[in-house]
Amino acid sequence: MSVSLVILAAGMGTRMNSDLPKVLHQIGGSPMLHHAMQAGRALDPDRTVVVAGYGAKAVTKAALAFDEDALVVVQAEQLGTAHAVAQAAPLLADAAGDVIVLYGDTPLVRAETLEAMQAARARHAVVVLGFHAADPGRYGRLITNGESLHKIVEYKDASAEERAVTLCNSGVVCVDARLLFSLVAEVGNANAAGEYYLTDIPELARKRGLSAGVVICPEAETLGINTRAQLAQAEAAFQARARAEALDNGVTLTAPDTVFFALDTVVGRDAIIGPNVIFGPGVTIESGAEIKGFCHLEGCHVSRGASVGPFARLRPGAELAEDVHVGNFVEIKNAILDEGVKVGHLSYIGDADVGEQTNIGAGTVTCNYDGVMKHRTRIGKNVFIGSDTMLVAPVTVGDGALTASGSVITQDVPAEAIAVARARQINKPGLATRLFEKLRAIKAAKPKGQ
Ligand code: UD1
Ligand code: CA
Repeated sequence: MSVSLVILAAGMGTRMNSDLPKVLHQIGGSPMLHHAMQAGRALDPDRTVVVAGYGAKAVTKAALAFDEDALVVVQAEQLGTAHAVAQAAPLLADAAGDVIVLYGDTPLVRAETLEAMQAARARHAVVVLGFHAADPGRYGRLITNGESLHKIVEYKDASAEERAVTLCNSGVVCVDARLLFSLVAEVGNANAAGEYYLTDIPELARKRGLSAGVVICPEAETLGINTRAQLAQAEAAFQARARAEALDNGVTLTAPDTVFFALDTVVGRDAIIGPNVIFGPGVTIESGAEIKGFCHLEGCHVSRGASVGPFARLRPGAELAEDVHVGNFVEIKNAILDEGVKVGHLSYIGDADVGEQTNIGAGTVTCNYDGVMKHRTRIGKNVFIGSDTMLVAPVTVGDGALTASGSVITQDVPAEAIAVARARQINKPGLATRLFEKLRAIKAAKPKGQ
């Protein structure tokens, strides 16, 4: 059964109290819009239409960043959710099969739930996703009889009796494409908000002698984000889910509640993640790698058998091959570390290539930035970079070479050479004792307190 998606994302989100369009506020390091798109992607949709409005330029960019084939339509005035859906009609005029409407501000819906809605379409012309709310607040209320849906009443329009209903509307609906647009065209705005409510369509369908039904999912999936407090709640719910999934997938989390995942984090089986590890977007950790406590990782790839941290930072473009070791207080950015490389302590390796089995001594820095441009450092295999070496890029160190600790390397080092680039040491016998005596005498001669 083919399906297309319409994702509503035009609203400003007044209650967020923000300049940023609501759907671009992040959960798990990605705009909430991406979460809705990801849930829908699992259905392999023919077309995905995002309805943008407030901040349309930024919303369009975000939509295309997630899915370059997404279609974006702009709803110039936000006249309500049915009006928003109607904007997608021209783009889906010839669409076969069903349309699933998702709200960009409802990011936690799971793919399995959308599949259950598709299945329920065999029984109902219009399928609405509902949930039992612990605190129904301002959600629309579903007036039902068993699985059959009589109508949806918006909070503002609901009677006291209807407000007492705790079965609420998530906003997600699944309807045949042609029927959806014909129903939406019929929606009026004679209600408390003066808006075109998508929630009118079950009743309009019933008036045509068609049936409307409800699929119920856990409340955790349908949290609608309207405030910063709800954004924080959604973040917590997303993290709880990501942690549970990682554990299920055979990942060891020593202290799960302290590990933060991104929407696209991939962690292989038998990886070990210590406490207080933060994953930004774009991280892949292969099977059996270990990330010790207090690491920040973003846009990086850690291969099998590698170990990172504690207290390490991997930034975008950090590529760690098998059995690489990155230790404490080390930052790696846009650098490829081949098999078996060791960067144990207190180093910055940025814009660099490091060959296999090379050892980078403590306190080494690739000086990649000259104040205007970035330059690359190339270090061969089996190299020994002495502690506190400054590698002033662009610079190359050949295979099997060694740099003396404390060196400032500004010229290429040939393979198998030793490079020493520091002042020669001079020892002055007895001078320390004489110097201390002199200083103590000066101190003793001073008035007290100075
Ligand atoms: C909506 C539902 C309500 C449901 C709740 C679930 C309607 C009328 N009400 O209420 O029954 O319980 O969601 O969270 O649908 N949008 C547009 N264009 C518009 C208006 C809205 O794109 O003209 C988008 C918003 O950006 C948002 C989504 O649609 O992503 C929902 O709109 P919102 O105003 O938040 O609806 P609620 O009042 O929360
Ligand atoms: Ca909402």
